[in-house]
Amino acid sequence: MLREVLEALQPKPGGRYVDGTLGGGGHAAALLAASAPSGFLFGCDRDAAALEAARQRLAPLAGRCALRQGNFAELADWIEHRSCQGVLLDLGVSSPQLDEPERGFSFQQEGPLDMRMDQRQSLTAAGLDNDLSERELADLFWKLGDEPHGRRLARAIVQARRQGPVETTGQLARIIERVSPRQGRKRHPATRVFQALRMTVNNEVCSLKRGLAAACTLLQPGGRLAVITFHSVEDRIVKHFGHEKIRDYAVTGEVDLPEFRVPRPPQMRWLYRKPLDASELEVESNPRARSAKLRVLEQL
Ligand SMILES: C[S@@+](CC[C@H](N)C(=O)[O-])C[C@H]1O[C@@H](n2cnc3c(N)ncnc32)[C@H](O)[C@@H]1O
Repeated sequence: MLREVLEALQPKPGGRYVDGTLGGGGHAAALLAASAPSGFLFGCDRDAAALEAARQRLAPLAGRCALRQGNFAELADWIEHRSCQGVLLDLGVSSPQLDEPERGFSFQQEGPLDMRMDQRQSLTAAGLDNDLSERELADLFWKLGDEPHGRRLARAIVQARRQGPVETTGQLARIIERVSPRQGRKRHPATRVFQALRMTVNNEVCSLKRGLAAACTLLQPGGRLAVITFHSVEDRIVKHFGHEKIRDYAVTGEVDLPEFRVPRPPQMRWLYRKPLDASELEVESNPRARSAKLRVLEQL
């Protein structure tokens, strides 16, 4: 959703922009091109291989960007508050991560059940699959995968691991296919389980909540935060975050009831009433974009 991101962030010469999910550096290169000759970009990615790819791509523009390996949850520790005009978070995994069997993100290729974005951490998907109880696995598939057959799938995994640890993407995909056959469905039955495991391994919910809050502290008034999500769990978090920011009150209790409301001015506004989808043309050339949604908030 490159065109849509550029339209939303409107990069200009002299502006300072942040790409918290560099990946291969495609969005970052476009932000720098659109803000030439003097725009500056701060970029990070948790994945060392992605960072290296972005570094190579952005090498001709090295004087106009600062890149580092890190979690976007920590952006506010690195970049001066209220100093930027735009922040982009393009969530999820990149094509190189999915296409590299060794990384273990894809159920379509045989590889170790890894799924770490930052390979310096020790927890892998195999660790989760073999150590969590049936109940814990079922909860995770339900909460982070919106998987309606979570209980059945968790039971099948726990039964299968009695014969030995589940250590590869292929092993796990086959267990899921046995319990939940494909039967002409568009989506592979393992999609949601893999999503839930990946989100847990990388602590994605916590990173996203912290990253959204951090991004807001970096923005000047009028600055914009663009977030691309790829599934409903991520999108709900972004929507909920935005709704809190646009309200003219803070909530002091556990729930949003009139007695817990304290008036305060709205902090942000939605740029579009509804999230934008990828264009048909983009979906044709990149089927993954089918589930992409772009939400944009403007700092007041
Ligand atoms: C969809 S890709 C981004 C593609 C990129 N916009 C481009 O133009 O090539 C998502 C990237 O975000 C990274 N990522 C995901 N969560 C992250 C986080 N919390 N902090 C930093 N990087 C993260 C992943 O490692 C992956 O490289």
